[in-house]
Amino acid sequence: MRVRVGRIDELPTDRCVAVAGGRAVVVRLGDTPLAFENRCLHQASPLAGGRVDGGVLICPLHFWRYRLPTGRVVGSERTLTAYPVTVEGGEVVVEIPDDPGDRPIRDVLLDHARTWSREEGT
Ligand code: FES
Repeated sequence: MRVRVGRIDELPTDRCVAVAGGRAVVVRLGDTPLAFENRCLHQASPLAGGRVDGGVLICPLHFWRYRLPTGRVVGSERTLTAYPVTVEGGEVVVEIPDDPGDRPIRDVLLDHARTWSREEGT
């Protein structure tokens, strides 16, 4: 699903904002727009509203920190799911995967277990 999220010069540089009904967040790092799944790797809380400071996105709930532009957790190998972003005529377009719909809870839990880290998870 391609989502137009607005003009590049209107994207904030100091926080991330939800787009596509909250499925993704976008932020601008300099002149580069970035998009990630709106889901913190700590406890799956939304990242929307998270502050961006010094090239680091900070989750608003427990302040996990993600380096930009990669989305990699500071001090870890884990990385946010990034979505492709293009700028077309000054407008930012994010490519978001199709909604998985009603996934069985078993699949959701297995995905979580596969990405969970004993050192980082709580
Ligand atoms: S849910 Fe993001 S840091 Fe805890």
